[in-house]
Amino acid sequence: MTFPDRRLRRLRRTPAIRQLVAETRIGVDDLIAPLFVRENCENPQPIESMPGVMQHSQESLLEEVRQLRQLGVTGIVLFGLPERKDSVGSEAWNPDGVVQVALKNLRDEHGDGLVAIADLCVDEYTDHGHCGIVTSSGDIDNDATLELYQKTALAQVEAGADMVAPSGMMDGQVAAIRQALDANGHELTPIMAYSAKYASAEYGPFREAVDVTIAGGGNRKTYQQDPANAREAIEEIRLDVAEGADLIMVKPALAYLDIIYRARQEFDLPLAAYHVSGEYAMLKAAAANGWIDGLATGIEHLTAIKRAGADLILTYLTREVAETLQ
Ligand code: PBG
Repeated sequence: MTFPDRRLRRLRRTPAIRQLVAETRIGVDDLIAPLFVRENCENPQPIESMPGVMQHSQESLLEEVRQLRQLGVTGIVLFGLPERKDSVGSEAWNPDGVVQVALKNLRDEHGDGLVAIADLCVDEYTDHGHCGIVTSSGDIDNDATLELYQKTALAQVEAGADMVAPSGMMDGQVAAIRQALDANGHELTPIMAYSAKYASAEYGPFREAVDVTIAGGGNRKTYQQDPANAREAIEEIRLDVAEGADLIMVKPALAYLDIIYRARQEFDLPLAAYHVSGEYAMLKAAAANGWIDGLATGIEHLTAIKRAGADLILTYLTREVAETLQ
């Protein structure tokens, strides 16, 4: 061998060679677009902290999904903004609720060509903004909340959801939902479990997107995970798998690549990662200042998330990345 050994740079010489030896690729099939639909909304409303993302009307949601499908995207996850909120979030399981109407419309238009995933939680529907029932002492009542999730799962699936994605981080939520689905003839509806979901400051822009304020300046630290913990995430996922999760998820993504990596080593189920609102907002803010190339940075982030071990990525970048992959 002659020195210096040029073995490494040899394979970086041209774009075509680099493409040939790339270990990780992002494709439209890996991406799931989170979408917001707002009740009684005439025109889509921009979300200030998430440039390019909208609170959709029923009409504009259908148009957005049409365009996504033309770009080859088949996965979406839906969040609803109801007109009416109450202490238990009863609009979440109203058969005529905003997400249920959207699911019916999408099902009618797309049949099985679209994978419509319903985020399953009550925080967008409760007047206090928590993901469950708040007791008089201010705790979140785990088991009473599970009954709400069961009702919501049924309403979503009966409206046309292909999959439900419980995001509330109540103990036993996957088992409770599986039981309700099976008891009502929905044995073939998968559950995408937000298994390792951290109490992250990176959800800030999402709260603007869904008009949620947690009462009394509260937080979700008694039910979502502490960012300090990694082994606990594996335990969370293990329990969800035992309860019947069909897909597992780590959320957020970039600050938790170690968790994604560990989850990939431990479990063989499809693994999703959620590149959340704050991750998107940071990228867009820096790009808007001309401080980074937004798209290049975005693709680098998504590539890192896949390289760490995620099979699927829920990301607000779906549309623009799909456009560049054309
Ligand atoms: C709860 C839910 C949240 C997100 C998805 N589902 C908010 C939260 O847990 O506070 C956050 C998504 C994002 O920030 O992009 N239903």
